[in-house]
Amino acid sequence: KTVINIGVAGFGTVGQGLADVIEKNHDLIVRRTGREIRIKSVLIRSEHRRAEVQAIGAEAVTDYRQLITDPDIDVVVELTGGIAFPKQLIADAINAGKHVVTANKALLAEDGMGLFALAAKKGVHLGFEASVAGGIPVVGPLRDSLAGNGVHKILGILNGTANYILTEMTDKGLDFQTALNDATEKGYAEADPTLDIEGIDTAHKLALLIRLAFGCNYPFDKLPVTGITVVTPMDISFAKEFGFRIKLLAQSRLIDGKVEAGVYPALVPEDNLLASVNGAFNAIRLAGNAGPVVLHGKGAGALPTGSAVLADIMAIARAAEPNNLGFVGVELPEAEQIDLDDA
Ligand code: HSE
Repeated sequence: KTVINIGVAGFGTVGQGLADVIEKNHDLIVRRTGREIRIKSVLIRSEHRRAEVQAIGAEAVTDYRQLITDPDIDVVVELTGGIAFPKQLIADAINAGKHVVTANKALLAEDGMGLFALAAKKGVHLGFEASVAGGIPVVGPLRDSLAGNGVHKILGILNGTANYILTEMTDKGLDFQTALNDATEKGYAEADPTLDIEGIDTAHKLALLIRLAFGCNYPFDKLPVTGITVVTPMDISFAKEFGFRIKLLAQSRLIDGKVEAGVYPALVPEDNLLASVNGAFNAIRLAGNAGPVVLHGKGAGALPTGSAVLADIMAIARAAEPNNLGFVGVELPEAEQIDLDDA
């Protein structure tokens, strides 16, 4: 099949980011997968999205069963948010034999284990790279490239909105609400920003990283979580005075087969690498027996998250062929060189 058709549920920030990266990377997608990726249908929940969906050449549908029963749709992409509705949608899609890609960390962390079991039973992919840290590849690396590192410690800044707010409060003296409004306007915050500022979104992502790194399931409701609403401007200025920055950290350690984990605002010394992770950036430090690895990048926003969703779709699109260099075929063309004298 030369075209992979996708059905997208939800056309908010990430859905639109996905449409954008599919368009921008058209030629690259074909070279890397040997296929076209086309958004065939988009589930909309309010009519005001219809024109936006039609503008990208897709059909707007109002019942998710239209995505699942469409024999042309190969991959269902779930970007709706919430828990109960997307859980049903994903389960139905898997049962219909569709591959699924989701960015829904809340669902996967709180109620996702059954979906992974179902996907395994049905022999379909359930991709979720976009659910943790937006544009930073961490799901794939923990599962694959870092699998031999014996990762036993996770330390991360996993929420772009909270980190943006703390950065603006620290560096510009902005008040909490103004910084939160900015983060919402820039497309970083969740539809319900309580999840960001109360540390819950960070905890969702930490629960997923624990599964991937340690191979066990930490009950989400047992994770100790403190958000950034407890941080006052006075805390920030005292921290600064003593050479620290306040960061919302997710932390977990595997000790003698037991897991310690939590999310809390913490004082990070200014000369620590994590202190320089600012704005909507995220970072994850993974310590293993082969030494630490630090991943850093844009943790929220339309394009970073859309690109992570696209990567999962591309992995499904090329799954049928060995793809050792990430492109189709074994021979790569010689790079055309830029003459440095002319550049
Ligand atoms: N609201 C999330 C954040 C989006 O701010 O990090 C990315 O998961």
